[in-house]
Amino acid sequence: MRILAVVGSIRRGNTYAMVEAACHALNESDIELIHLKDLDFKMCDGCLSCDESGLCTYDDDMSRLLDDVKKADGFIFGTPARWSLLSGELKVFFDRLNPLAVPELLKGKKAIIFAVGQTEGEEAESITIAADSVKAFCDNAGIEVVDTVIAKNCLEADSLITNNLVILDKCRNSAINLYKSLLVDK
Ligand SMILES: Cc1cc2nc3c(=O)[nH]c(=O)nc-3n(C[C@H](O)[C@H](O)[C@H](O)COP(=O)(O)O)c2cc1C
Repeated sequence: MRILAVVGSIRRGNTYAMVEAACHALNESDIELIHLKDLDFKMCDGCLSCDESGLCTYDDDMSRLLDDVKKADGFIFGTPARWSLLSGELKVFFDRLNPLAVPELLKGKKAIIFAVGQTEGEEAESITIAADSVKAFCDNAGIEVVDTVIAKNCLEADSLITNNLVILDKCRNSAINLYKSLLVDK
């Protein structure tokens, strides 16, 4: 089994904690954890030559990662809420997956989504909307979303680790559910 776990926040904070907890629930050999801060890649310039060739004209960390994305059975996508949307860094990551779009190489894969934000109460809807924006990408790409975990009231980088270990348990359970649903397909 191959699961690619993507931390869509530059800082090593709450998104990282959620994705890391999920990874710890699975066998190390099944998981590749990618923190986008460690990758050096350009924004998609929309040339669309990849629609014809299936290849990106750029030669950077993202073009080199495409093969791993292609081979993955499942994904963990983690994002902080930013203006009720996914993070810019995760959006650029998604844009750079366009070479896999026309040949429908993402279709039939499965994902879980983690979203975290500082709001609580009614305002926390912004975090759900952010998670929905990740789901919109998944729907476009033909990736089935099997679970979503929302973490509220997290402003500081260590908010989850210090105040909300229950959410990290939810992330672990969510990863196990993803794994089980992938096993059914094998
Ligand atoms: C530009 C910006 C926009 C934000 N927008 C929202 C938002 O719409 N809703 C929310 O709940 N939190 C929002 N936040 C707060 C972050 O989501 C929150 O601090 C989160 O814990 C950051 O995750 P990280 O620790 O993984 O970076 C925003 C933060 C920034 C920097």
